[in-house]
Amino acid sequence: MKVTIIGAGNVGSSCASLLAQKDIVKKIVLLDIKEKFSEGKSLDISQMLPIIGSNTEIIGLTNDYSKSKNSEIIVITCGVTRKPGMTRDDLVKINAKIIRSVTEQAIFFSPEAKLIVVSNPLDVMAYVSYITAKIDSHRVIGMAGILDSARYRYFLSKKLKLSPNDIQCLLLGGHGDTMVPLYRYTSISGIPIQEFISEEENNVIVEKTKKGGEEIVNLLGTSAWIAPGASVVQMIEAILKDSKRIFSCSAFLKGEYNLKNIYLGVPVILGKSGIEKIIDLKLNENEKCLLIKSSNHIRKMIEKLNFFSF
Ligand code: NAI
Ligand code: 2OP
Repeated sequence: MKVTIIGAGNVGSSCASLLAQKDIVKKIVLLDIKEKFSEGKSLDISQMLPIIGSNTEIIGLTNDYSKSKNSEIIVITCGVTRKPGMTRDDLVKINAKIIRSVTEQAIFFSPEAKLIVVSNPLDVMAYVSYITAKIDSHRVIGMAGILDSARYRYFLSKKLKLSPNDIQCLLLGGHGDTMVPLYRYTSISGIPIQEFISEEENNVIVEKTKKGGEEIVNLLGTSAWIAPGASVVQMIEAILKDSKRIFSCSAFLKGEYNLKNIYLGVPVILGKSGIEKIIDLKLNENEKCLLIKSSNHIRKMIEKLNFFSF
């Protein structure tokens, strides 16, 4: 099994390192545009392998897509990141050009691959990758929901003084301030969240989750990479092991949630063909309103892209 990761920066190298530690793929190809960068990163990760006992081979290359040939999964983590004071949306124009170019090259060498898009603004970049790759939408998946859910679970666990492992939740919508957490679908070991915390108290945690990415940007001067890398690895594992896990991922909607021609975070079943099913939940009026608001925000950015004819 071969996985290619495009972008050997913070998220790409974190993802490569965590995936290598799992020892579930034969080969990881790490690609970057910056001369010698992937080569250096892959050497560092490879030298960790004897310590942890993994047999995964890691190859680092500068812009040479030929070695990515016939990858099962391509992870797209390249592009620019937010700096303090910037939003994810500020990255749209520059990252769209990068995502289009790398998708074209990657899919040429791996026409059967599943694509996991990470670059921001996430839902728009997943859309760009999908229209560029010209493959079925179940093979182009955006990563954000696992990360946002993990942040929410972590903050909630701190508040409730309980293990984050026992918290299950569901977030819908775009990756950003318009994300839609579903209070009704949050539980702790099967016990509804309402037994532990009021909706008002939960809203405070939700707001903290929405600002979770920004909090890290303000502390580090760039965006998060360790939890994002782990989130991608969870998706890779579910696909390669065909484990039919349910995660919130950015998926192309064809009428689900009464929305069409847009990428948005929704619960999906992940398996060997990528997205095997989008779970179309019956939302209440308030949840529907929030999801429409979130989708409008994403659509505006997509329209902006057409305007720039990127
Ligand atoms: P980074 O700056 O550490 O790495 C980006 C890498 O992309 C750099 O090494 C750069 O040389 C490379 N690159 C740029 N253009 C390229 C091209 N044409 N071909 C190949 N490589 C190219 O950034 P980081 O922290 O790894 O973040 C990457 C992206 O992921 C950003 O857009 C960031 O906003 C996004 N992100 C998304 C998350 C999510 O939840 N969806 C979470 C964290 C980051
Ligand atoms: C995050 O949420 C930057 O989207 C990235 O950390």
